[in-house]
Amino acid sequence: MSTSFRIAAVLKTAKGGNALTVKGWIRSIRTSKGITFISLNDGSCVTGLQVVIEPGMPNYDDVCRLGSGSAIAVEGVLVDSPAAGQAIELKADTITIYGTVDENYPLQKKHHSFEFLRSIAHLRPRANTFGAVFRTRSALSFAIHRFFRERGFVYVHTPIITANDCEGAGELFKVTTIDSASPPMLNGKIDYSNDFFGQPTGLTVSGQLEGELLAMGLSSIYTFGPTFRAENSNTSRHAAEFWMVEPEIAFADLADDADLAEDFIKYLCRFVLEECAEDMAFFDKQIETGLIQRVTALAQSDFVRMDYTEAIERLTQAPVTFKYPVEWGLDLQTEHERYLAEQIVGGPLFVLNYPKDIKSFYMRQNDDGRTVAAMDLLVPKVGEIIGGSQREERLDRLEQRMNQMGISTGALSWYLDSRRWGSCPHAGFGLGFERLIMYLTGMENIRDVIPFPRTPGHAEF
Ligand code: 4AD
Ligand code: MG
Repeated sequence: MSTSFRIAAVLKTAKGGNALTVKGWIRSIRTSKGITFISLNDGSCVTGLQVVIEPGMPNYDDVCRLGSGSAIAVEGVLVDSPAAGQAIELKADTITIYGTVDENYPLQKKHHSFEFLRSIAHLRPRANTFGAVFRTRSALSFAIHRFFRERGFVYVHTPIITANDCEGAGELFKVTTIDSASPPMLNGKIDYSNDFFGQPTGLTVSGQLEGELLAMGLSSIYTFGPTFRAENSNTSRHAAEFWMVEPEIAFADLADDADLAEDFIKYLCRFVLEECAEDMAFFDKQIETGLIQRVTALAQSDFVRMDYTEAIERLTQAPVTFKYPVEWGLDLQTEHERYLAEQIVGGPLFVLNYPKDIKSFYMRQNDDGRTVAAMDLLVPKVGEIIGGSQREERLDRLEQRMNQMGISTGALSWYLDSRRWGSCPHAGFGLGFERLIMYLTGMENIRDVIPFPRTPGHAEF
């Protein structure tokens, strides 16, 4: 066989006259005036390569019987296409058939609903939208590493199995080797001293606490890994397994944290526009009209910064009735977050300095005695995509807050040690990777931006 190429490379650089091989899956096949045309896709780009087959080919009849979804290799010569729709096409000399399909192949039609495609998540990577989403997801992962590397951040790996519940929300999935049919008991309770780790453990809800320890020696770090939350919220923005990016910066305050987050998001916007141009054009056409313009504007905008107290005032004055109450001291719901971003600001905004009672124990207490140095980045359509804070670096204040909130200082003594010896102001944030992808592609359901979504009742593939 001649040298094998990916279709993206062929469409970009190859010229008429080149002999080459491409391999992929048939998207569509039709015969017209005795000539057969195949649109072949290999996942390297949205556009398929047109393959032209003339009846002289030895297995011509077998090829004509192939259905969309079949896997083949085509060896041939590129020619300038006489028809509109493509600049070049591949005139086939030989076709090797790897895998055929039968009439039960679920992806026969051109258009399927996202709901249906979710039910065949094992096959949907072959659908155009999912090809585009997963290529963009891959490109953005690379961009995240490049952003931090260019700024001297150290990429660290924090544990997936942990004994701490960083966010304190009790959303930990248990990790245990205890036989649930006959657990060892002590005084009427499961005796975890006999479990694998000798104590109750779970899957991490955030790498932050460990990330802070690494920042306290390496100055600027980030984590980027799977994160788990057993929250039973069946929404379009929550997954039980998602990926989070968590930078942590030593010698930094809340303003530095927000500046970093703003630079980061804008960098990622520019990156997708430049590096994923074809996929972005596809999303703009098929998923959200005006997407490219929106992301371009975002890359050039200044993100608004607004105190929580002001956000509550603005929401109270808004001429709409919300489903959930708006009141100082209550957390913002998605409807409030979206109203702030979409109606009040018309773009992304940081809401800063939330009431301490609705935020985690580790956030730095402000001098007003009632708020903490927290920040959420809210964006139109999605709501919160980043949650972060300046951390409480003062040992006495941190211990006092943990005691007030009933968090064991003994179990987190290692965390408190970082405040005991060489403590310094520091801050960080967590970006929900899937929410970022939703925001940058226009996809509206988190289940459609991660290959195999884990949500309540769903772990089948
Ligand atoms: O706001 P969260 O809970 O913050 C933290 O976990 C901090 N420890 C981060 C830090 O300061 N290092 O989560 C951060 C982000 C959210 O803004 C959201 O984008 C995403 O993680 N997120 C989820 N994404 C999908 N499904 C879920 N169930 C999510 N929960 C949070
Ligand atoms: Mg949050």
